Amino acid sequence: MPRIAGGTADVAFPLTSPDASVAPGNDREVYRPQEDTGLLIDALSSVDLSGATMLDLCTGSGAVAIAGALRGAAVTAVDSCPHAVDATRRAAARDGVGVAVMWSDLTAVDQTGFDLVTCNPPYVPTPPGTESSVVGPIHAWNAGPDGRAVLDVVCAILPRLLAEHGTALIVQSELAGVDTSVAALRHAGLRAKVVRERLIPFGPVVESRRALLIREGLLDSTSDKESIVVIRAQRIPGSAGAST
Ligand SMILES: C[S@@+](CC[C@H](N)C(=O)[O-])C[C@H]1O[C@@H](n2cnc3c(N)ncnc32)[C@H](O)[C@@H]1O
Repeated sequence: MPRIAGGTADVAFPLTSPDASVAPGNDREVYRPQEDTGLLIDALSSVDLSGATMLDLCTGSGAVAIAGALRGAAVTAVDSCPHAVDATRRAAARDGVGVAVMWSDLTAVDQTGFDLVTCNPPYVPTPPGTESSVVGPIHAWNAGPDGRAVLDVVCAILPRLLAEHGTALIVQSELAGVDTSVAALRHAGLRAKVVRERLIPFGPVVESRRALLIREGLLDSTSDKESIVVIRAQRIPGSAGAST
């Protein structure tokens, strides 16, 4: 299995067309929709999606992409894990909505001008030496020592993906630095603020890394809950969309 150094892959993924097939996937290799998924879907209600174009980065099971399509958006969904691509295509067909699903690293998306970009990236801080993979659940949450390996990339590429009046919704944990994301988005030329927040008990992955997170100063030793947030970012009308 190819390996990755941190968040975004150091292997080249094909950017497939929506029609290109991937091998039949295994749903056990796909991130099951969780609290973060639900919070992001809840935040969709703040955007008028009727007739809008939407890009769902890191689509996983496709739950967010399908929620957008059911609200009237023309959705493109992207994931670098072929199991996720297959699962999203099957879920969209089951729910009777059209979603263009691409097998690609998020950095390779070359379409621009989306009215809405959504993303639930991997964001769990990951100790050096932890097993890594470019497919499957490990790939869905491991995000480098500070949890920002994918988040930093997403913040940097959003301006060129968004339409002039476009909006982005990103979900993440406080463990990966909410202020850092807001600052990175502003640095990239966007307006940014937290629009949803929920306190949730640690899941098994964070629980298993508790000692490390305390050691790294990312967690208080008495905590058993983490806050997850949705950050909304918007292009400032008239500003340039180009960035890295
Ligand atoms: C936390 S899961 C989110 C799944 C889904 N959007 C949800 O909310 O339930 C993260 C997803 O990001 C995908 N992923 C990780 N790194 C990626 C990258 N560099 N480019 C595209 N997808 C990536 C993983 O394969 C995984 O399916």
